[in-house]
Amino acid sequence: MSSIDPSSLSNLSQVTTNSIHIDLTVDFETKALSGHVILNLSVKSDDSSLVVLDTIGLEIHSAALITSSGSIPLQFKMAETHKLFGIPLEISLDRPYNKGDNLSVQVNYNTTQNSAALQFLTPEQTKGKKHPFLFSQCQSIYARSLMPCQDSPSVKFTYTGSLRVPKPLTGLMGALLTSVKDEDSHTVYCWEQKVSIPSYLVALACGNLVKHEIGPRTAVWSEPELIGACAYEFAELEKIIGIAESIVTPYVWGRYDLLVLPPSFPYGGMENPCLTFVTPTMIAGDRSLVDLISHELAHSWSGNLVTTRNWEHFWLNEGWTTFFERQFTEKVSSRDTSQLLSVLGVEELRSDIKRTGVDNQLTNMVPCLKDIHPDDAFSVIPYEKGYNFLYYLKELLSHEVWQGFYKHYIHTFSGKSIDTDDFKNLLYSYVEKVAGSEGIKKLDSVDWEAWLYKPGMPPVTNDFDKTPQVAPMNLANKWHEADTKQDFSCLTKDEYTSLSTHQKLVFFSELKSKSSTLSPSALDTIDSMYSLNYNKNFEIRAAWLYVALAARHKPVFNAAVSMLEDQGRMKFTRPIYRLLAACKDEGGEEIAKVTFLRLEDSYHPICARLVKKDLGL
Ligand code: BES
Ligand code: ZN
Repeated sequence: MSSIDPSSLSNLSQVTTNSIHIDLTVDFETKALSGHVILNLSVKSDDSSLVVLDTIGLEIHSAALITSSGSIPLQFKMAETHKLFGIPLEISLDRPYNKGDNLSVQVNYNTTQNSAALQFLTPEQTKGKKHPFLFSQCQSIYARSLMPCQDSPSVKFTYTGSLRVPKPLTGLMGALLTSVKDEDSHTVYCWEQKVSIPSYLVALACGNLVKHEIGPRTAVWSEPELIGACAYEFAELEKIIGIAESIVTPYVWGRYDLLVLPPSFPYGGMENPCLTFVTPTMIAGDRSLVDLISHELAHSWSGNLVTTRNWEHFWLNEGWTTFFERQFTEKVSSRDTSQLLSVLGVEELRSDIKRTGVDNQLTNMVPCLKDIHPDDAFSVIPYEKGYNFLYYLKELLSHEVWQGFYKHYIHTFSGKSIDTDDFKNLLYSYVEKVAGSEGIKKLDSVDWEAWLYKPGMPPVTNDFDKTPQVAPMNLANKWHEADTKQDFSCLTKDEYTSLSTHQKLVFFSELKSKSSTLSPSALDTIDSMYSLNYNKNFEIRAAWLYVALAARHKPVFNAAVSMLEDQGRMKFTRPIYRLLAACKDEGGEEIAKVTFLRLEDSYHPICARLVKKDLGL
């Protein structure tokens, strides 16, 4: 383990990666990628004769040093397996090298069925049902299952990629396309990423894909059956980027394309550079869930330009991104939507802290991840505690000072990987410069220790605007009152349909907080009046199921199972399994386990591992 990054087994203090060439062929028969990587490395300390790379689930064939006069084979060995972090690949160099030396090392290898970054889908698992599909998901620590590499966000490199895919499929990477070559039975797509990125942002996909152009630097990719709906949902993409640039700084990545994946994609979105991956569950038909795009787009600055040094400081990626996301949402949608998202966020934060345990150090904004898989620590805490921290600092220092600071922060740390101290030191030096001792006095009043290094809810509660919450809160109260009288005649569908999507979500969040007091007849009436069980907006459908499952309402079990069949996004899938399994007396635990075992193979490996753990299987 390296002191720079507790989640990597590479020798990060001896060598670092400057650039990579990735050359892979996709084989749907063996469900594997095969080819090689060339790592262009710089030596960081004298007398280095070993390169240690992260791997997991890979078969390594050979290693060689590439020199101007040819290639020299290198000895390698797979070192001791770490139960969470994989198998270090130790490559012995031909001689000791000194600080400042540069070397190119080629590794020939193939991925295996144990490469958790990859999901190979059968034609039946796609919309079109005719062609197979492949996509990668490298965050947090799965790049090592796609290629041997220094799999740590502390290391940033540029890359070129060449992806050979069987005809008639299209290959994509999170980079800019440089050429397309035609072979007999394959097409070779060549890509280049000129901005330095951490390994977790390397991404590829392959399938029957078509492109719909949106603007000069934007397009959406999806299977042909879905492209019309995608074109409608994302029509405002170019405009959103304009808004983002006016709030932060110019967009530097060239293109911002979207790839809409099949329903097993385990995240809402993944900010792969030049090509954000998104779940099809965000296509609501009414553009109501585009805040997700604001979020992934915001990573183009926080995360992709300014990157956390390791997964302990993950809040620097997600807290800042949530902050920018809600700044964008104010302009793209409305201030009300942005405030409602903040309010919903606080409730999710409360619930994740409760579930994790108020004293658990994993609820710290900066947790310790020694011997803990970053995905096992995943929660909304870095997002929402991080967001609340930044929102609090903004209110404390004034909007003008804050706006100046965040631009300075992005400018100063672009292309770098940083930790929480780097953030804090820059904030102090900036505030001293623009606001003098008055500003420093304000910063000194911040309880840094509690915000950053203590578990539980934050030490300060922000005031979000209550106005947009009033209507959904009143409606929830009306249901509770009607329920005590067992008379629902005063409730109409209109009161609900007149709410915005996010107000509806506040309504469900409020119902859920008192779900134990809702009677079965109230729950049945809510469902039939508002048509919720199979609602085509997945956020609404999930929010409703959480209410009904938290109330142990057996009549929704079938609808819950359908939701688990229809998609594999972890944000929905994990809570539904957990809530269903908690309905022990109602038989929910058995249903959850049987359903999971039936669907396990259709889920992404990352999702399957976590649900399995949640269910104690
Ligand atoms: N980068 C994350 C997804 C992620 C986090 C993948 C950690 C692997 C490990 C992405 O930007 C994200 O936060 N997605 C959210 C949606 C967002 C609107 C909060 C999600 O997937 O739900
Ligand atoms: Zn994010």
